[in-house]
Amino acid sequence: MTNRTLLRLLMALLLLALYLPGYAQPTLLQNAPGRRLLSLNGSWNYILDPYETGFYDYRRMAFDQSPSGKGGYYDNQKPSSPKEPELIEYDFDKSAVMQIPGDWNSQDPKLLYYEGTIWFKKSFSLKPQAGKRYFLYFGAVNYEAHVYLNGKKLGMHRGGFTPIQFDITDRLSTTGDNFVIVKADNTRHAEAVPTINTDWWNYGGITRDVYIAETPATYIADYQVQLAKNDPGKLAGYVQLSGEGKGGQAVTLNIAEAGIRQTLKTDANGRATFSLPAKKLQLWSPQSPRLYAVRLSSGPDAVQDRIGFRTIQTRGQDILLNGKPIFMRGISIHDENPLIPGRTRGEGDQRMLLTWAKELGCNYVRLAHYPHPETMMRLADEMGLLVWAEVPVYWTIAWENPATYQNAEAQLSDLVNMGKNRASIVVWSVGNETPPGDARLKFMTSLVRKARALDDTRLVSAALELHRDGPNVLVDDALGAELDLTSFNEYAGWYWGDKLSDLLNYKFTIKYNKPVVISEFGGDALAGYHGDADTRWSEEYQEALYQNQLKMLSGISGLRGMTPWILTDFRATRRQHPVYQNGFNRKGLISSTGQKKKAFFVLQDYYRQMAQKYEHR
Ligand code: GCU
Repeated sequence: MTNRTLLRLLMALLLLALYLPGYAQPTLLQNAPGRRLLSLNGSWNYILDPYETGFYDYRRMAFDQSPSGKGGYYDNQKPSSPKEPELIEYDFDKSAVMQIPGDWNSQDPKLLYYEGTIWFKKSFSLKPQAGKRYFLYFGAVNYEAHVYLNGKKLGMHRGGFTPIQFDITDRLSTTGDNFVIVKADNTRHAEAVPTINTDWWNYGGITRDVYIAETPATYIADYQVQLAKNDPGKLAGYVQLSGEGKGGQAVTLNIAEAGIRQTLKTDANGRATFSLPAKKLQLWSPQSPRLYAVRLSSGPDAVQDRIGFRTIQTRGQDILLNGKPIFMRGISIHDENPLIPGRTRGEGDQRMLLTWAKELGCNYVRLAHYPHPETMMRLADEMGLLVWAEVPVYWTIAWENPATYQNAEAQLSDLVNMGKNRASIVVWSVGNETPPGDARLKFMTSLVRKARALDDTRLVSAALELHRDGPNVLVDDALGAELDLTSFNEYAGWYWGDKLSDLLNYKFTIKYNKPVVISEFGGDALAGYHGDADTRWSEEYQEALYQNQLKMLSGISGLRGMTPWILTDFRATRRQHPVYQNGFNRKGLISSTGQKKKAFFVLQDYYRQMAQKYEHR
């Protein structure tokens, strides 16, 4: 290797190292919610900071000088003497409060469109005990988070929909009085994931649960307990210990209802893998979402989970769940409660959305376009809904930026880590509607291969684009060769085609002999606005669009599922028609007041027929 090449390589590595912060993080605790927890949910004080005043130490003319600080909000400075107080132009404890988890846009009308930094502070009492470890855990902060404990920086994270975790064992105050400060910044960036342009609201802030998880010094950090790939008679997986003395430890796997109890021994790295016969397991399916109590224990540590066991695979143009062909009767869902527009605030909101999906006759949901909360995945397990889980590699990503790829891959890794024990999750999606091109193909192919390396037991797909030549619709995206499903978004009757009767003339030519799962189709309707089937924006137009779409799509021989766009109306800044939209995308089958539109019943009827056709085979 010539010196010039060596120099180039070193420069590239240095550049990558500079970009990496904020993506890779220590292995996230598996099933963190299953731990002994101190919840930090509730009222947090906050300070609006559009000019980054709290982050810029103007005396040192530098950003984020913590812990040497005395310049930024992260120090939470107080006057040293009431008589001669220094000039301190902020005070968290006297500032307004916001409810966490919760985006800021929906909590204060002044913040509906706000993009920038808001600082949050929460005090809590926790006296560390010897022999315990403590992890500060955020379900998500959109988009960039800088986190400080007791005035000292813990780290930063980029990515608005995956968990953030810090080991704070050695950072807790011995007095038990602690405070955490978070700088949340939802500013959009071209090199971010997602990039600056999306069709959803840029809800900012600490949008998911915050808590402190406690474990013993040596603890069960990670595990996967699933059926072996395509083998319903075998249980396979691993348990990973962390902390001192993790090697050579006994770990017990107990699934009492299945008569499974196995003691394993960890290797020098604290890992124990297993492959066990499992003849008596009742397999998980949407019709029978059987979950088992799984208990893992090692020394003083024990963690309980509820896990379903099933296989998923494709054979030609069929999708086989537990070896049987299925039709995926789905619907797309954003992580938003339409009735109080904002990110879902917890299990109640999420159960409402999934109950509507069940009422529609679904056995499947596409959790678009980013990782949804872990509670949503657990509800899908419990309620019997298959899940397509996705990372926000959406539209025109900065394909040639190494840091952008690192970010996308880190979000995919964190999504897989969070969802790998959920029977409901059957598809990892690496993106949505990404315009074909060489750099994009390289980026997406790498993500597909990363997904398979992380978890080869599930299907991998993406919502592809297509192109049209008059009535001929061609699905030949080169990325399709890498995927298990051929999935694409098509808007016949809304964005393309003038009359709904045109739909029946479209002919789909699909390059791949794989199951076809339509990832999006649909059209807007303002609930309560009525006209005839040619009146755009009326419920009757949307109703006729669905009727024609279903007829058109039934002509695709490999059709094995769909997730029409979308269950409910949702906030979107791009949608500003003053009569029909008012900042909402109205493609929902349910309105933002919970009203079912006429098209809801068209799809419900179709799914009733598909269920009869497939479930009595
Ligand atoms: C696209 C995109 C969605 C968007 C939808 C629409 O396909 O994937 O995120 O909301 O179309 O235009 O309504």
